[in-house]
Amino acid sequence: MTARGRFVTLEGIDGAGKSTHAGWLADELTRRGRRVVVTREPGGTPLGEKLRELLLHEPMTHETETLLLFAARREHVEQVIAPALARGDTVVCDRFTDATYAYQAGGHGVPLSAIAALETFVLHGLEPDLTLLFDVPLAVSRERLERAAAAGRTLDKFEAEHGAFFARVRDAYRVRAAAHPLRFRVIDSTQPLPAVRAVLTRIVDEIVR
Ligand code: TYD
Repeated sequence: MTARGRFVTLEGIDGAGKSTHAGWLADELTRRGRRVVVTREPGGTPLGEKLRELLLHEPMTHETETLLLFAARREHVEQVIAPALARGDTVVCDRFTDATYAYQAGGHGVPLSAIAALETFVLHGLEPDLTLLFDVPLAVSRERLERAAAAGRTLDKFEAEHGAFFARVRDAYRVRAAAHPLRFRVIDSTQPLPAVRAVLTRIVDEIVR
């Protein structure tokens, strides 16, 4: 029987550089002989991508937002993540449930107990084996987002949030990392790219071992 694959997630506040690293990490894992599935949340399935559009652009209550995130996540696990892990593939997922704890609970004040109940209902105990938290101080994230906006990119609903929101999201991520020290690696994402890649290379060593 094939051993269950490894489930790796990437997290961090907007502007932490996480998405830049997802592709590199996947390429490096592939180069080292792993079969890799790269995916993202919200999204990852045809229905999930439609829900992503609504989540990023449509005004809605925080409760509706939380429910739609978990609806998309249910499809994603059923159609993509669980089958890939069962095949023995390595799954690299750009955001997962920790983002809901950070953004919806930390950022918007949705009760942690509601998110925990939905997590149990939807995921039946599935959680990542490894979560990379790309951490940057608020000022760095703001500067990166402002540069993107100045270059003409329209910011989505979350990216357009104020500084206090991102401060709460970042704190919530750090609290989760401290509560799950074996699963999380906190990566200082203010370092130059080669330094972050050196850290990621050591993490790939662990994954392929
Ligand atoms: P993001 O990874 O920032 O997409 P991209 O890098 O392509 O812009 O994800 C989109 C947004 O969704 C991000 O601002 C955070 C938000 N989000 C939540 O609020 N809760 C969640 O559970 C997830 C998965 C994402």
